[in-house]
Amino acid sequence: MTRRDFINSTSASYASLLAWGMLQPAPATTLNLPANGRREDGKGRKVLVLGAGLAGMATAYELGKLGYDCTVLEARSRSGGRVWTIRGGTKETEIGESNGQTSSFEEGLYFNGGAARIPHHHQLTLHYCRELGVPLQMFNGNNEAGYLYNDGGTGDLANRRLRIKEYHNDMRGYTAELLAKALDQPGLDQQLTKEDIEKLVDFLKNEGDLNTAHLYKGTNRRGYKTKDHPGAGHKPGNMTDPFGLTDLLRSGFMQPVFYNVGDYIYEQQTTLLQPVGGMDAIPKALEKKLTGKIIFNATVSELRKTENGVRVVYQKDGKPVEVTGEFCVCTLPLPMLKNLESDLSGTVKRAADFVPYIKTGKIGLQFKRRFWEEDDWIYGGISRTNMDINQIWYPSYGFQGKKGVLIGYYNFYSRAEAVGAMSIAEREKMALAQGVKIHPQYPTEFENSFSLAWHRVPYSGGGWATYDDATRKKYYPSLIEADGNIYFAGEHTTYLTAWMAGAFTSAHRTVEAIHARVGEYTKK
Ligand code: PHE
Repeated sequence: MTRRDFINSTSASYASLLAWGMLQPAPATTLNLPANGRREDGKGRKVLVLGAGLAGMATAYELGKLGYDCTVLEARSRSGGRVWTIRGGTKETEIGESNGQTSSFEEGLYFNGGAARIPHHHQLTLHYCRELGVPLQMFNGNNEAGYLYNDGGTGDLANRRLRIKEYHNDMRGYTAELLAKALDQPGLDQQLTKEDIEKLVDFLKNEGDLNTAHLYKGTNRRGYKTKDHPGAGHKPGNMTDPFGLTDLLRSGFMQPVFYNVGDYIYEQQTTLLQPVGGMDAIPKALEKKLTGKIIFNATVSELRKTENGVRVVYQKDGKPVEVTGEFCVCTLPLPMLKNLESDLSGTVKRAADFVPYIKTGKIGLQFKRRFWEEDDWIYGGISRTNMDINQIWYPSYGFQGKKGVLIGYYNFYSRAEAVGAMSIAEREKMALAQGVKIHPQYPTEFENSFSLAWHRVPYSGGGWATYDDATRKKYYPSLIEADGNIYFAGEHTTYLTAWMAGAFTSAHRTVEAIHARVGEYTKK
Protein backbone atom coordinates (compact mmCIF):
# COMPACT_ATOMS: atom_id res chain seq x y z
CA MET A 1 0.00 0.00 0.00
CA THR A 2 1.42 3.37 -0.91
CA ARG A 3 1.23 6.34 1.37
CA ARG A 4 -1.30 7.93 -0.94
CA ASP A 5 -3.45 4.79 -1.03
CA PHE A 6 -3.36 4.68 2.73
CA ILE A 7 -4.41 8.29 3.05
CA ASN A 8 -7.17 7.84 0.49
CA SER A 9 -8.50 4.70 2.12
CA THR A 10 -8.79 6.03 5.65
CA SER A 11 -11.25 8.42 7.08
CA ALA A 12 -8.46 9.84 9.22
CA SER A 13 -8.63 13.60 9.58
CA TYR A 14 -5.96 15.88 8.28
CA ALA A 15 -5.03 16.63 11.90
CA SER A 16 -4.49 13.01 12.83
CA LEU A 17 -2.51 12.33 9.67
CA LEU A 18 -0.35 15.28 10.65
CA ALA A 19 0.02 13.96 14.17
CA TRP A 20 1.05 10.53 12.87
CA GLY A 21 3.75 12.20 10.83
CA MET A 22 2.03 11.14 7.63
CA LEU A 23 1.81 14.62 6.20
CA GLN A 24 4.18 17.51 6.01
CA PRO A 25 2.54 20.46 7.77
CA ALA A 26 2.05 23.49 5.57
CA PRO A 27 5.21 25.47 6.20
CA ALA A 28 4.69 28.26 8.72
CA THR A 29 6.24 30.50 6.14
CA THR A 30 3.33 30.43 3.69
CA LEU A 31 0.46 32.82 4.05
CA ASN A 32 -2.67 31.27 5.38
CA LEU A 33 -5.19 32.69 2.92
CA PRO A 34 -8.83 31.65 2.99
CA ALA A 35 -9.29 28.53 0.88
CA ASN A 36 -12.33 29.98 -0.85
CA GLY A 37 -10.81 33.44 -1.23
CA ARG A 38 -9.55 34.67 -4.54
CA ARG A 39 -6.12 36.12 -5.02
CA GLU A 40 -7.49 38.98 -7.10
CA ASP A 41 -9.75 40.20 -4.27
CA GLY A 42 -7.10 42.71 -3.31
CA LYS A 43 -6.58 44.16 -6.78
CA GLY A 44 -6.26 47.89 -6.73
CA ARG A 45 -7.31 48.33 -3.12
CA LYS A 46 -5.30 51.10 -1.51
CA VAL A 47 -3.39 50.36 1.68
CA LEU A 48 -1.34 52.92 3.58
CA VAL A 49 1.48 51.30 5.52
CA LEU A 50 3.07 53.36 8.27
CA GLY A 51 6.73 52.52 8.78
CA ALA A 52 9.31 50.95 6.46
CA GLY A 53 10.73 48.58 9.04
CA LEU A 54 10.51 44.85 8.52
CA ALA A 55 6.85 44.62 9.54
CA GLY A 56 5.76 47.42 7.22
CA MET A 57 7.85 46.36 4.26
CA ALA A 58 6.93 42.67 4.57
CA THR A 59 3.25 43.68 4.76
CA ALA A 60 3.53 45.82 1.62
CA TYR A 61 5.54 43.12 -0.16
CA GLU A 62 2.99 40.39 0.56
CA LEU A 63 -0.04 42.59 -0.08
CA GLY A 64 1.61 43.66 -3.32
CA LYS A 65 1.81 40.03 -4.43
CA LEU A 66 -1.97 39.89 -3.94
CA GLY A 67 -2.53 42.96 -6.08
CA TYR A 68 -3.06 45.57 -3.37
CA ASP A 69 -1.76 49.05 -4.05
CA CYS A 70 0.45 49.90 -1.07
CA THR A 71 2.16 53.12 -0.13
CA VAL A 72 4.67 52.97 2.72
CA LEU A 73 5.30 56.15 4.71
CA GLU A 74 8.67 56.28 6.47
CA ALA A 75 9.84 59.10 8.73
CA ARG A 76 13.54 58.34 8.38
CA SER A 77 15.61 58.70 5.26
CA ARG A 78 16.34 54.96 5.36
CA SER A 79 14.38 51.73 5.65
CA GLY A 80 14.83 49.06 8.32
CA GLY A 81 13.75 50.78 11.52
CA ARG A 82 15.50 49.01 14.36
CA VAL A 83 17.34 46.80 11.90
CA TRP A 84 20.24 49.10 11.34
CA THR A 85 23.87 48.48 10.49
CA ILE A 86 26.42 51.13 11.40
CA ARG A 87 29.28 51.49 8.94
CA GLY A 88 31.60 54.26 7.78
CA GLY A 89 29.50 57.33 6.91
CA THR A 90 26.44 56.35 8.98
CA LYS A 91 24.96 59.45 10.58
CA GLU A 92 22.56 59.91 13.46
CA THR A 93 21.51 62.65 15.82
CA GLU A 94 19.79 61.43 18.94
CA ILE A 95 17.00 63.27 20.68
CA GLY A 96 18.40 65.96 22.93
CA GLU A 97 21.80 65.77 21.34
CA SER A 98 23.16 68.66 19.31
CA ASN A 99 26.20 67.62 17.31
CA GLY A 100 25.22 64.30 15.84
CA GLN A 101 27.62 61.51 14.98
CA THR A 102 29.10 60.29 11.74
CA SER A 103 30.80 56.92 11.86
CA SER A 104 34.37 56.81 10.62
CA PHE A 105 34.64 53.03 10.61
CA GLU A 106 37.00 51.76 7.99
CA GLU A 107 35.58 50.28 4.79
CA GLY A 108 34.24 46.77 5.45
CA LEU A 109 33.89 47.22 9.20
CA TYR A 110 30.48 47.57 10.82
CA PHE A 111 28.26 46.53 13.70
CA ASN A 112 24.57 45.84 13.88
CA GLY A 113 23.13 48.59 16.05
CA GLY A 114 19.78 46.87 16.45
CA ALA A 115 18.83 43.32 15.49
CA ALA A 116 22.00 41.27 15.43
CA ARG A 117 21.25 37.56 15.59
CA ILE A 118 18.81 35.09 14.03
CA PRO A 119 17.91 31.95 15.98
CA HIS A 120 17.76 28.80 13.86
CA HIS A 121 14.09 28.30 14.73
CA HIS A 122 13.02 31.74 13.47
CA GLN A 123 12.03 30.08 10.24
CA LEU A 124 10.03 33.01 8.95
CA THR A 125 13.05 35.32 9.12
CA LEU A 126 15.12 32.62 7.44
CA HIS A 127 12.39 32.15 4.83
CA TYR A 128 12.64 35.82 3.85
CA CYS A 129 16.42 35.61 3.70
CA ARG A 130 16.03 32.66 1.36
CA GLU A 131 13.32 34.28 -0.78
CA LEU A 132 15.12 37.62 -1.01
CA GLY A 133 18.53 36.07 -1.63
CA VAL A 134 20.22 37.38 1.51
CA PRO A 135 23.29 35.22 2.16
CA LEU A 136 23.82 34.15 5.77
CA GLN A 137 26.79 33.24 7.89
CA MET A 138 27.12 31.91 11.42
CA PHE A 139 26.73 34.24 14.36
CA ASN A 140 28.75 32.94 17.27
CA GLY A 141 26.71 33.68 20.37
CA ASN A 142 28.20 31.44 23.01
CA ASN A 143 31.91 31.46 23.26
CA GLU A 144 33.48 29.65 26.21
CA ALA A 145 36.63 31.65 25.55
CA GLY A 146 34.83 34.90 26.42
CA TYR A 147 35.45 36.53 29.77
CA LEU A 148 33.50 37.20 32.95
CA TYR A 149 34.48 40.18 35.05
CA ASN A 150 32.87 40.94 38.39
CA ASP A 151 33.70 44.50 39.26
CA GLY A 152 33.66 45.65 42.87
CA GLY A 153 33.18 42.23 44.44
CA THR A 154 35.18 41.05 47.44
CA GLY A 155 36.05 37.41 46.71
CA ASP A 156 39.35 36.20 45.24
CA LEU A 157 37.83 35.90 41.80
CA ALA A 158 36.31 39.39 41.72
CA ASN A 159 37.99 42.33 39.99
CA ARG A 160 39.81 40.09 37.55
CA ARG A 161 38.81 38.47 34.31
CA LEU A 162 38.23 34.77 34.04
CA ARG A 163 37.20 32.69 31.08
CA ILE A 164 33.61 31.54 30.81
CA LYS A 165 34.96 28.00 30.26
CA GLU A 166 36.74 28.15 33.62
CA TYR A 167 33.67 29.29 35.53
CA HIS A 168 31.28 27.11 33.61
CA ASN A 169 33.19 23.84 33.83
CA ASP A 170 34.09 24.33 37.47
CA MET A 171 30.48 24.95 38.40
CA ARG A 172 29.37 21.94 36.37
CA GLY A 173 32.04 19.85 38.03
CA TYR A 174 31.21 20.86 41.59
CA THR A 175 27.46 20.59 41.20
CA ALA A 176 27.83 17.19 39.52
CA GLU A 177 30.08 16.07 42.37
CA LEU A 178 27.57 17.23 44.99
CA LEU A 179 24.72 15.47 43.21
CA ALA A 180 26.72 12.28 42.86
CA LYS A 181 27.38 12.40 46.60
CA ALA A 182 23.73 13.05 47.32
CA LEU A 183 22.85 9.93 45.36
CA ASP A 184 24.78 7.88 47.94
CA GLN A 185 22.37 9.00 50.60
CA PRO A 186 19.52 6.73 51.66
CA GLY A 187 16.02 7.87 50.79
CA LEU A 188 16.35 8.00 47.02
CA ASP A 189 15.57 4.33 46.66
CA GLN A 190 11.87 5.04 46.54
CA GLN A 191 12.07 6.87 43.24
CA LEU A 192 15.15 5.42 41.65
CA THR A 193 16.33 1.86 41.25
CA LYS A 194 19.98 0.94 41.75
CA GLU A 195 20.39 0.87 37.96
CA ASP A 196 18.73 4.29 37.66
CA ILE A 197 21.21 5.68 40.12
CA GLU A 198 24.16 4.12 38.30
CA LYS A 199 22.98 5.72 35.09
CA LEU A 200 22.51 9.07 36.75
CA VAL A 201 25.99 8.89 38.23
CA ASP A 202 27.34 8.05 34.79
CA PHE A 203 25.59 11.12 33.45
CA LEU A 204 27.03 13.27 36.24
CA LYS A 205 30.53 11.92 35.65
CA ASN A 206 30.30 13.04 32.06
CA GLU A 207 28.46 16.24 32.77
CA GLY A 208 30.97 17.41 35.37
CA ASP A 209 34.02 15.47 34.13
CA LEU A 210 34.33 13.78 37.55
CA ASN A 211 37.14 11.35 38.36
CA THR A 212 36.59 7.66 39.14
CA ALA A 213 35.86 8.54 42.77
CA HIS A 214 33.15 10.92 41.48
CA LEU A 215 35.08 13.97 42.60
CA TYR A 216 35.70 17.11 40.57
CA LYS A 217 39.42 17.78 40.45
CA GLY A 218 39.54 20.04 37.41
CA THR A 219 39.24 19.28 33.72
CA ASN A 220 40.92 20.18 30.48
CA ARG A 221 37.51 21.56 29.41
CA ARG A 222 38.49 24.73 31.23
CA GLY A 223 41.62 25.00 29.13
CA TYR A 224 45.39 24.67 29.35
CA LYS A 225 47.98 26.95 30.85
CA THR A 226 48.95 29.63 28.34
CA LYS A 227 52.36 28.32 27.33
CA ASP A 228 51.55 24.71 28.11
CA HIS A 229 49.15 23.45 25.47
CA PRO A 230 49.55 19.93 24.08
CA GLY A 231 52.14 19.77 21.33
CA ALA A 232 54.78 17.66 19.65
CA GLY A 233 57.42 15.60 21.43
CA HIS A 234 57.27 15.72 25.20
CA LYS A 235 54.39 18.18 25.43
CA PRO A 236 51.33 16.47 26.88
CA GLY A 237 49.90 19.86 27.93
CA ASN A 238 49.20 21.17 31.39
CA MET A 239 45.62 21.89 32.43
CA THR A 240 44.72 25.00 34.33
CA ASP A 241 43.82 24.47 37.99
CA PRO A 242 40.18 24.69 39.04
CA PHE A 243 38.96 27.56 41.19
CA GLY A 244 37.52 26.66 44.56
CA LEU A 245 33.76 26.28 44.81
CA THR A 246 33.49 28.75 47.67
CA ASP A 247 35.67 31.24 45.79
CA LEU A 248 33.28 31.00 42.87
CA LEU A 249 30.24 31.36 45.10
CA ARG A 250 31.64 34.26 47.09
CA SER A 251 32.98 36.29 44.18
CA GLY A 252 29.67 37.55 42.90
CA PHE A 253 29.11 35.35 39.86
CA MET A 254 25.67 34.30 41.03
CA GLN A 255 24.31 37.76 40.16
CA PRO A 256 21.75 37.52 37.35
CA VAL A 257 23.96 39.61 35.08
CA PHE A 258 26.45 36.71 34.92
CA TYR A 259 24.02 33.84 34.52
CA ASN A 260 25.64 31.72 31.95
CA VAL A 261 22.35 30.72 30.42
CA GLY A 262 23.15 31.90 26.91
CA ASP A 263 23.44 28.34 25.71
CA TYR A 264 20.24 27.25 27.45
CA ILE A 265 17.87 30.04 26.37
CA TYR A 266 15.86 28.86 23.41
CA GLU A 267 16.54 32.03 21.43
CA GLN A 268 20.28 31.84 21.96
CA GLN A 269 20.98 28.19 21.43
CA THR A 270 23.33 27.27 18.63
CA THR A 271 22.83 27.77 15.69
CA LEU A 272 22.48 31.52 15.33
CA LEU A 273 22.88 33.24 11.98
CA GLN A 274 23.46 36.70 10.53
CA PRO A 275 23.44 38.15 7.02
CA VAL A 276 26.84 38.50 5.40
CA GLY A 277 27.86 42.16 5.41
CA GLY A 278 25.37 43.43 7.99
CA MET A 279 21.78 42.90 9.15
CA ASP A 280 20.55 45.73 6.92
CA ALA A 281 20.89 43.35 3.98
CA ILE A 282 17.39 42.17 4.94
CA PRO A 283 15.63 45.56 4.85
CA LYS A 284 17.63 46.55 1.76
CA ALA A 285 16.43 43.44 -0.07
CA LEU A 286 12.83 44.15 0.92
CA GLU A 287 13.19 47.78 -0.09
CA LYS A 288 14.26 46.64 -3.55
CA LYS A 289 10.99 44.76 -3.91
CA LEU A 290 9.09 47.97 -3.12
CA THR A 291 10.68 50.37 -5.56
CA GLY A 292 8.60 53.52 -5.88
CA LYS A 293 6.26 52.51 -3.07
CA ILE A 294 8.14 53.92 -0.07
CA ILE A 295 8.00 57.64 0.67
CA PHE A 296 10.99 58.56 2.85
CA ASN A 297 11.32 61.56 5.17
CA ALA A 298 7.56 61.41 5.61
CA THR A 299 6.63 61.81 9.27
CA VAL A 300 3.08 60.77 9.94
CA SER A 301 1.30 63.35 12.06
CA GLU A 302 -2.36 62.43 11.79
CA LEU A 303 -4.30 59.19 11.45
CA ARG A 304 -8.07 59.27 10.97
CA LYS A 305 -10.86 56.83 10.28
CA THR A 306 -13.15 57.89 7.45
CA GLU A 307 -16.41 56.49 6.22
CA ASN A 308 -14.76 54.17 3.70
CA GLY A 309 -11.29 53.83 5.10
CA VAL A 310 -8.50 55.94 6.45
CA ARG A 311 -6.96 59.34 6.05
CA VAL A 312 -3.32 60.01 6.93
CA VAL A 313 -1.44 63.28 7.09
CA TYR A 314 2.34 63.28 6.93
CA GLN A 315 4.87 66.06 6.99
CA LYS A 316 7.19 66.28 4.00
CA ASP A 317 9.68 69.11 3.51
CA GLY A 318 7.90 71.04 6.23
CA LYS A 319 4.50 70.77 4.55
CA PRO A 320 1.53 68.57 5.40
CA VAL A 321 0.46 66.05 2.78
CA GLU A 322 -2.82 64.19 2.98
CA VAL A 323 -3.38 60.67 1.65
CA THR A 324 -6.32 58.32 1.85
CA GLY A 325 -6.72 54.58 1.55
CA GLU A 326 -9.09 51.75 2.22
CA PHE A 327 -6.90 50.27 4.92
CA CYS A 328 -4.00 51.38 7.07
CA VAL A 329 -1.37 49.08 8.54
CA CYS A 330 0.33 50.96 11.34
CA THR A 331 3.70 49.50 12.35
CA LEU A 332 4.93 52.50 14.29
CA PRO A 333 6.46 51.59 17.66
CA LEU A 334 3.87 52.31 20.37
CA PRO A 335 5.69 55.33 21.82
CA MET A 336 5.38 56.98 18.39
CA LEU A 337 1.59 56.69 18.48
CA LYS A 338 1.58 59.18 21.33
CA ASN A 339 2.72 61.92 18.93
CA LEU A 340 -0.08 61.25 16.47
CA GLU A 341 -3.26 63.24 16.17
CA SER A 342 -5.68 60.40 15.81
CA ASP A 343 -9.08 58.98 16.48
CA LEU A 344 -7.64 55.62 17.48
CA SER A 345 -9.70 53.83 20.09
CA GLY A 346 -9.13 54.55 23.76
CA THR A 347 -7.67 51.11 24.38
CA VAL A 348 -5.11 51.54 21.62
CA LYS A 349 -4.18 54.97 22.96
CA ARG A 350 -3.77 53.52 26.43
CA ALA A 351 -1.55 50.74 25.03
CA ALA A 352 0.61 53.45 23.48
CA ASP A 353 0.81 55.19 26.83
CA PHE A 354 1.41 52.21 29.07
CA VAL A 355 3.23 49.38 27.28
CA PRO A 356 6.85 49.97 28.29
CA TYR A 357 9.69 49.93 25.79
CA ILE A 358 13.11 48.81 26.95
CA LYS A 359 16.00 51.23 27.19
CA THR A 360 18.98 49.67 25.51
CA GLY A 361 22.19 50.79 23.84
CA LYS A 362 25.31 49.70 22.02
CA ILE A 363 28.66 51.17 21.10
CA GLY A 364 30.88 50.03 18.26
CA LEU A 365 34.59 50.43 18.95
CA GLN A 366 37.08 50.26 16.11
CA PHE A 367 40.51 48.90 17.00
CA LYS A 368 43.54 48.88 14.79
CA ARG A 369 44.30 45.27 15.70
CA ARG A 370 42.01 42.31 16.44
CA PHE A 371 43.76 41.71 19.74
CA TRP A 372 40.84 39.64 21.05
CA GLU A 373 41.63 37.13 18.31
CA GLU A 374 45.41 37.49 18.24
CA ASP A 375 46.04 37.63 21.98
CA ASP A 376 42.93 36.13 23.56
CA TRP A 377 41.84 33.58 20.93
CA ILE A 378 38.30 34.90 20.98
CA TYR A 379 36.40 34.55 17.68
CA GLY A 380 32.93 35.98 18.14
CA GLY A 381 30.85 35.49 21.26
CA ILE A 382 30.27 37.62 24.31
CA SER A 383 32.05 38.65 27.52
CA ARG A 384 29.88 39.59 30.50
CA THR A 385 30.35 41.98 33.38
CA ASN A 386 28.29 43.76 36.01
CA MET A 387 29.83 47.09 34.93
CA ASP A 388 27.66 49.49 32.92
CA ILE A 389 29.07 48.10 29.67
CA ASN A 390 27.38 44.79 30.62
CA GLN A 391 28.40 42.86 27.49
CA ILE A 392 31.21 42.98 24.96
CA TRP A 393 30.37 41.34 21.63
CA TYR A 394 33.21 40.20 19.39
CA PRO A 395 32.51 40.31 15.66
CA SER A 396 31.45 37.06 13.97
CA TYR A 397 32.86 38.19 10.63
CA GLY A 398 36.20 39.26 9.22
CA PHE A 399 38.17 36.80 11.36
CA GLN A 400 41.95 37.25 11.26
CA GLY A 401 41.55 40.52 9.40
CA LYS A 402 43.64 43.51 10.29
CA LYS A 403 41.31 45.91 12.07
CA GLY A 404 38.02 45.18 13.73
CA VAL A 405 34.91 46.69 15.29
CA LEU A 406 33.61 45.07 18.44
CA ILE A 407 30.53 46.03 20.40
CA GLY A 408 31.96 47.66 23.52
CA TYR A 409 28.68 47.66 25.40
CA TYR A 410 25.23 46.17 25.03
CA ASN A 411 23.17 47.14 28.05
CA PHE A 412 19.57 47.35 29.22
CA TYR A 413 17.28 49.15 31.64
CA SER A 414 19.06 51.31 34.24
CA ARG A 415 22.55 50.72 32.83
CA ALA A 416 21.35 51.74 29.38
CA GLU A 417 19.54 54.72 30.85
CA ALA A 418 22.65 55.95 32.65
CA VAL A 419 24.90 55.46 29.64
CA GLY A 420 22.34 56.83 27.18
CA ALA A 421 22.13 60.02 29.23
CA MET A 422 25.85 60.67 28.71
CA SER A 423 27.25 62.73 25.86
CA ILE A 424 28.62 60.76 22.91
CA ALA A 425 32.17 61.53 24.07
CA GLU A 426 31.43 60.42 27.64
CA ARG A 427 29.95 57.13 26.44
CA GLU A 428 33.13 56.39 24.54
CA LYS A 429 35.27 57.30 27.53
CA MET A 430 33.18 55.08 29.81
CA ALA A 431 33.26 52.13 27.38
CA LEU A 432 37.04 52.36 27.18
CA ALA A 433 37.57 52.87 30.92
CA GLN A 434 35.46 49.83 31.81
CA GLY A 435 36.52 47.67 28.87
CA VAL A 436 40.21 48.09 29.67
CA LYS A 437 39.68 46.08 32.83
CA ILE A 438 38.87 43.09 30.65
CA HIS A 439 41.12 43.97 27.72
CA PRO A 440 44.28 45.87 28.70
CA GLN A 441 44.96 46.32 24.98
CA TYR A 442 42.14 48.88 24.64
CA PRO A 443 44.14 52.12 25.09
CA THR A 444 46.89 51.30 22.63
CA GLU A 445 44.65 49.83 19.94
CA PHE A 446 41.54 52.06 19.99
CA GLU A 447 40.70 54.22 16.98
CA ASN A 448 37.08 55.48 16.96
CA SER A 449 33.52 54.74 18.03
CA PHE A 450 29.83 55.13 17.26
CA SER A 451 27.21 54.74 19.98
CA LEU A 452 23.46 54.66 20.17
CA ALA A 453 20.75 54.61 22.81
CA TRP A 454 17.59 53.21 21.22
CA HIS A 455 15.32 55.13 23.56
CA ARG A 456 16.89 58.31 22.20
CA VAL A 457 17.07 57.40 18.54
CA PRO A 458 14.30 59.33 16.77
CA TYR A 459 11.24 57.32 15.69
CA SER A 460 12.13 54.27 17.79
CA GLY A 461 11.05 55.06 21.32
CA GLY A 462 13.17 52.26 22.77
CA GLY A 463 14.52 48.83 21.97
CA TRP A 464 11.35 46.77 21.96
CA ALA A 465 8.04 46.38 23.75
CA THR A 466 8.29 44.64 27.11
CA TYR A 467 5.07 43.06 28.32
CA ASP A 468 4.44 41.49 31.68
CA ASP A 469 1.36 39.43 32.43
CA ALA A 470 -0.65 42.49 33.42
CA THR A 471 0.17 44.66 30.38
CA ARG A 472 -0.25 41.65 28.10
CA LYS A 473 -3.72 41.14 29.45
CA LYS A 474 -4.74 44.76 29.57
CA TYR A 475 -3.32 46.34 26.42
CA TYR A 476 -2.21 43.65 24.01
CA PRO A 477 -5.71 42.51 22.89
CA SER A 478 -6.49 45.94 21.41
CA LEU A 479 -3.37 45.76 19.23
CA ILE A 480 -4.22 42.49 17.55
CA GLU A 481 -7.67 43.64 16.47
CA ALA A 482 -8.39 46.08 13.69
CA ASP A 483 -9.48 49.49 14.93
CA GLY A 484 -11.93 50.26 12.15
CA ASN A 485 -9.85 49.89 9.00
CA ILE A 486 -6.59 50.38 10.85
CA TYR A 487 -4.47 47.29 11.55
CA PHE A 488 -1.42 47.11 13.78
CA ALA A 489 1.75 45.19 13.04
CA GLY A 490 5.27 45.11 14.43
CA GLU A 491 7.07 43.07 17.08
CA HIS A 492 4.87 44.69 19.74
CA THR A 493 1.82 42.89 18.31
CA THR A 494 3.31 39.41 18.89
CA TYR A 495 4.71 37.00 21.43
CA LEU A 496 8.03 37.35 19.63
CA THR A 497 8.80 40.83 20.89
CA ALA A 498 12.40 41.96 20.35
CA TRP A 499 12.88 39.75 17.31
CA MET A 500 12.73 40.29 13.56
CA ALA A 501 10.61 37.13 13.43
CA GLY A 502 8.04 39.05 15.46
CA ALA A 503 7.91 41.78 12.82
CA PHE A 504 7.56 39.22 10.02
CA THR A 505 4.94 37.08 11.69
CA SER A 506 2.89 40.18 12.50
CA ALA A 507 3.04 41.13 8.82
CA HIS A 508 1.70 37.73 7.82
CA ARG A 509 -1.08 37.91 10.36
CA THR A 510 -2.12 41.35 9.12
CA VAL A 511 -2.05 40.40 5.46
CA GLU A 512 -4.16 37.35 6.23
CA ALA A 513 -6.66 39.43 8.20
CA ILE A 514 -7.03 42.10 5.51
CA HIS A 515 -7.33 39.57 2.73
CA ALA A 516 -9.92 37.55 4.63
CA ARG A 517 -11.92 40.73 5.17
CA VAL A 518 -11.96 41.81 1.54
CA GLY A 519 -12.81 38.21 0.65
CA GLU A 520 -15.95 38.61 2.71
CA TYR A 521 -16.85 41.86 0.89
CA THR A 522 -16.48 40.37 -2.57
CA LYS A 523 -18.48 37.28 -1.68
CA LYS A 524 -21.53 39.45 -1.15
N1 PHE B 1 16.54 40.00 20.35
C1 PHE B 1 17.35 40.83 21.19
C2 PHE B 1 18.78 40.33 21.21
O1 PHE B 1 19.10 39.37 20.59
C3 PHE B 1 16.81 40.98 22.57
C4 PHE B 1 16.75 39.73 23.36
C5 PHE B 1 17.85 39.36 24.12
C6 PHE B 1 15.63 38.92 23.37
C7 PHE B 1 17.85 38.19 24.85
C8 PHE B 1 15.60 37.75 24.12
C9 PHE B 1 16.72 37.37 24.84
O2 PHE B 1 19.61 40.88 21.84
